[in-house]
Amino acid sequence: MCGIVGYIGDKKAYPVLIKGLSRLEYRGYDSAGIALMSNEEDLRVYKRQGKVQDLVDFVDGMDIEGNVGIGHTRWATHGLPNDVNAHPHFSGDGDIVLVHNGIIENYDIIKKELIKRGHVFKSETDTEVLVHLIEDIKNNSTVSLEEAVRIALNEVHGAYAIVALSKHEPNKIIAAKKSSPLVIGMGEDEYYLASDATPIVEYTKNVVYLEDEQIAIIDRNNGLRIISISNKEVSPYVQELEMQLEELEKGGYDHFMLKEIYEQPRAIHDSFRGRLNAQEGWISLGGIRDFEERIAEANRIIIIACGTSWHAGLVGEYYIEDLARIPVEVEYASEFRYRNPIIRPNDVVIAISQSGETADTLAALKMAKEKGATLLGIVNVVGSTISRVTDAGSYTHAGPEIGVASTKAFTTQVTLMAMLAMMLAKKRKTVTEERFNTLLNEMEALPSKIEKLLESNDYIRGIAEIYKDAQNALYLGRGSSFPIALEGALKLKEISYIHAEGYPAAEMKHGPIALIDENMPVFVIATKGENYEKVVSNIQEVKARKGKLVAIVTQGDVTVKNIADHYIEIPDTDEMIVPILATIPWQLISYHIAVMRECNVDQPRNLAKSVTVE
Ligand code: M6R
Repeated sequence: MCGIVGYIGDKKAYPVLIKGLSRLEYRGYDSAGIALMSNEEDLRVYKRQGKVQDLVDFVDGMDIEGNVGIGHTRWATHGLPNDVNAHPHFSGDGDIVLVHNGIIENYDIIKKELIKRGHVFKSETDTEVLVHLIEDIKNNSTVSLEEAVRIALNEVHGAYAIVALSKHEPNKIIAAKKSSPLVIGMGEDEYYLASDATPIVEYTKNVVYLEDEQIAIIDRNNGLRIISISNKEVSPYVQELEMQLEELEKGGYDHFMLKEIYEQPRAIHDSFRGRLNAQEGWISLGGIRDFEERIAEANRIIIIACGTSWHAGLVGEYYIEDLARIPVEVEYASEFRYRNPIIRPNDVVIAISQSGETADTLAALKMAKEKGATLLGIVNVVGSTISRVTDAGSYTHAGPEIGVASTKAFTTQVTLMAMLAMMLAKKRKTVTEERFNTLLNEMEALPSKIEKLLESNDYIRGIAEIYKDAQNALYLGRGSSFPIALEGALKLKEISYIHAEGYPAAEMKHGPIALIDENMPVFVIATKGENYEKVVSNIQEVKARKGKLVAIVTQGDVTVKNIADHYIEIPDTDEMIVPILATIPWQLISYHIAVMRECNVDQPRNLAKSVTVE
């Protein structure tokens, strides 16, 4: 959580920081702040509860000069979202300012010690404790800012990405990270810092991803130097960004979420481009080629993820077990890591993550690594931490996803799961040639089928209009469409704040059926396939209790159309592809309901895109 930025160079820092914070606002948006420095002794901090725009309004008319600066957009962990708890935080003597993303777990013990030594704290944050600790070390040991930071970081536990300035060292920025991301952009005699590359890409494509427990010392006169917190010199490894600036703009859409829903044909095409060929009858995931044997022979595959990515893992479980006949377990990363799971040497652990930075997923991966498992990553953000700590993996290639509610990241994750299952099935000879070829053809046809489905957007908006005032909603699905019910419910909850639950359709009669009355919309996936008749029975049970039924049906369906209050047709396809297509109407329903309820679609309350705290 939280986004941090920094700049040092010849440009005016303020516009760079504000633009950068706006790009990072998806990471947290309850308060924002900046620190600017022109020369020695001139260190100004402006911070405000609210969004980056509230900060911009606040600083209107104030002194925003300076070629050096840092900024922060917050997702509160310690202390309410208010002006005082907003970052940057000053040291007690006003010499140092610091922005921080992460959690200092032992802040309370350090704070008590510092209070005994006369420090007075203004905020409730763990960050203020860290900047006071740095000040304490700097003043008592008469060391430079970087040395004080280094010593302090050896005393703290937890996660941090920090950027600090001292008004006595106006040509220098110090940054460090552990378990929270930090990227350094290398310009011509200028440097950018950010939680991810999105604020940097318009200025330079050359970046250094700081590794855990590394400290960057950026000096306007001497350039970039990296040391470890144990004081060893590290050579910066400069990489080139592949990201394009246009990917970060709304491109004429009202919201990033809608743009990202519409990007799905392209995103899915990118996720399988060069990895499968229906005409030639092959599938190959380059990133995991060296591990194919290992995965195909695994006793068990354990998928770990959070939120929407966990739903993609659940679909993956259906795919892999059905097609490749390897046992799969899907675990919430946050539970898995704390329950001393049994991991055998022949197990393969797959982490699924859009951001590649989710703290729980990362921690679960580290634990699995300690237990000797082979680690694979299915990740969207190129160069992210999960992509670097896993033994191998495949990028989903969805492109930057800015809307907090995951859309194209999810459908590309499911696409990757399908490809993995197909690749394993082929290798293990658990799929017939005919089915394999059908699946290859259906995968290739998927982008155009999604395009066709997106043509129903206005019609789906009409359905959303009818249910926009619902208090509750139930989502149902069977088999591999059950996780899509969960995902549909999550989408509705997170952006429109309507309570929604996802259930396996057959489970409804074991409890949730009690909720059904004439005010309860029930969203059901009732496409043609093995479970069709069973689902038809389930929806009859809904109608018998006067529930309002919105059904996703296969094009040409008659039976369900006659029962449901509203139906949405999806193009006919193999049953395995249905979950990907069926996701899209639920995304659009949630989107339109949220817009009609005047909710902040791209930045829903209390949420953040990248959850880098546990
Ligand atoms: O970046 P990750 O995929 O690891 O993130 C996991 C969840 O935080 C994320 O999917 C979250 O549930 C989204 N808000 C869902 O739309």
